Amino acid sequence: MSNIAEFNAASNADTDREHEIQLGLLRALCKAAGENRDAAAIGEILDRLIAYSEAHFASEELLMRLKSYDDYEDHVEDHAQMMDTLRGIAASHAEGDPSLIAGRATELLGFIGKHIATRDRRFADYVRNGL
Ligand SMILES: [Fe+2]
Repeated sequence: MSNIAEFNAASNADTDREHEIQLGLLRALCKAAGENRDAAAIGEILDRLIAYSEAHFASEELLMRLKSYDDYEDHVEDHAQMMDTLRGIAASHAEGDPSLIAGRATELLGFIGKHIATRDRRFADYVRNGL
């Protein structure tokens, strides 16, 4: 295997791992909100999820630029939408309104799941087959 092929395979493995952590945090948020856990517990998961998502999206976007990826704009738009939703959930949480968190987090889980299965899958194929 060439060095580039090894780099590409390692990049995809890293991205898969990051998706599992991101989805795990989001599932934990859905569960905590669904069980009406206390505000501090929900806030902690939310903070970790936001920080992790920022870092994960930034690294994915850097790799897309490095690879001159052809679907960069639309892909980044999805990431921006997900961060807006997360920050909206955090704002509701900070205002002490927990009523909508579970529903919005579950909706976001669907959106991110679809994003990973479509846009991220396409990028992984592009990376695997590219230079
Ligand atoms: Fe992505």
